[in-house]
Amino acid sequence: MGGRRIWGVPVIAKPRGGLKLQRKPCLSMEVIIRDNQDAGCVLGAKIIARVVREKPDAVLGLATGRTPLRLYQELIRMHRAEGLDFSRVTTFNLDEYVGLPADHVQSYRYFMNENLFKHINIDLARTHVPDGTAHDLHAECRRYEDRIAGVGGIDLQLLGLGRNGHIGFNEPTGSLRSRTWLKILSEQTLKDNSAVFGSLEGMPKHALTMGIGTILDAKRILLLAFGPAKVRAVEHMVEGPLAAICPGSALQMHPRATVILDENSAAGLHYAEHYRWIDSHKLAWQRYD
Ligand code: GLP
Repeated sequence: MGGRRIWGVPVIAKPRGGLKLQRKPCLSMEVIIRDNQDAGCVLGAKIIARVVREKPDAVLGLATGRTPLRLYQELIRMHRAEGLDFSRVTTFNLDEYVGLPADHVQSYRYFMNENLFKHINIDLARTHVPDGTAHDLHAECRRYEDRIAGVGGIDLQLLGLGRNGHIGFNEPTGSLRSRTWLKILSEQTLKDNSAVFGSLEGMPKHALTMGIGTILDAKRILLLAFGPAKVRAVEHMVEGPLAAICPGSALQMHPRATVILDENSAAGLHYAEHYRWIDSHKLAWQRYD
């Protein structure tokens, strides 16, 4: 291939305003370790903001849980202070509890409205969360897949990581090729998420979730995991064998997966120094901050 190259990377001319380096997919799991959750979330928000700025009608896959809360706060700050524009963005959330209506305070639809959507200029009609109250749950799963396909797929999927290695609500041993489906939640997940429900008894035991195959179809993946509770799951996901017992390990197959950790969640990694080395020797165009 002809054309100008810098450090072997093809340079493409923009119609106006100088030159732009083509960004290449990372083709291996990119592991970034930051001092703490705050720094990790700010970095994650920068990655998402860049996607939205480069593609104003981007399709974002979003996640719930404690992990991305600070990231959402940073996106809200960028919207207010820097004019980050979500007016043409479409979103698909990973999952939803079965039986919880949108106005239930523990539903994931409610979580997204409260923690992100109502603070930015997104069109709510473009935001999607599986309907856990649907009469026919299997039909709802198929409909969700069709909707994702109908907008051309997900540009970036944000993920958290369960203590047992789950992504979305894909619990250990679920098929690595699964599509949006109905899952029975594990005891571990119920315990981990029960605090907000008050008791384990009052919690839904089922959820609709994008499958692992659905998640892997996203063009890009950004997973965040912080704190000592995630140390084993992180170790298995990044350095363990590819295995359904750790659903997060499926990301090893994705050509463009970025994993942001803090010192606590990274504490079990055998190659932590290698990831730090790679991170500190990135070229300017490979960096996010
Ligand atoms: C929940 C969600 C996941 C989330 C995970 C971790 O069960 N379904 O999407 O990533 O658990 O939650 P937290 O971020 O609160 O640790």
